[in-house]
Amino acid sequence: MKFYVLTLFPKMIEGFVSESIIGRAKENNIVDVECINIRDFTENKHKKVDDYPYGGGAGMVMQAPPVYNAYESLQKDKKVRVVFVTPSGKTFTQNMAKEFASQEELIILCGHYEGVDERVLEEIVTDEISIGDYVLTGGEIPACVLIDAIARLIPGVLNKEESFENESFENNLLEYPQYTRPPVFMGREVPEVLLSGHHKNVAKWRLEKSLEKTKRVRPDMLDAKL
Ligand code: ADE
Repeated sequence: MKFYVLTLFPKMIEGFVSESIIGRAKENNIVDVECINIRDFTENKHKKVDDYPYGGGAGMVMQAPPVYNAYESLQKDKKVRVVFVTPSGKTFTQNMAKEFASQEELIILCGHYEGVDERVLEEIVTDEISIGDYVLTGGEIPACVLIDAIARLIPGVLNKEESFENESFENNLLEYPQYTRPPVFMGREVPEVLLSGHHKNVAKWRLEKSLEKTKRVRPDMLDAKL
């Protein structure tokens, strides 16, 4: 899968995607991430990309032409989805990550300043997505969040040890607690059942713990199941 990121701060994305699991997936040619610097597509000699908002108010607005020109430079079919990351978008979920993981290409637009001129959004954006109810200084971290959550679902990105079976949000439950050696840590023992080798009991205990945790921390997830 190939991600194109339209941004004013490509280094923020490039640093992130060159490390760890996504970095390995890039090296193995399973995932590719290309950053397009919106500033390279300005039509003025000062390379200015923002201006005052019509109607007044605080902050600056990203101008439509450089954003559109950056998008146009990719020469992509209208079928390729363009995600604008914004706090006023739909909240990103694991199900959305799964849906995006089925695409061959995805374009992500990162905003900055107070916003982006609505006209270019109307022209190119297919999905507006927020990573949560808080406001960040720009869309680069949200873009990395999307890339990470989507890329790890692509076959071959995670190895067997890193697999996503049984993890939180699969079957609408949070994950059960995990333990590894040593068997006793600061007086705390590993639950007996996990040492028993009795697979059915282990599975039953894990489901109970998952339900218990979901009820306590995210009761809304259990309501959503009804
Ligand atoms: N840009 C700034 N804050 C954001 C958020 N919470 N989600 C997506 N994009 C953003």
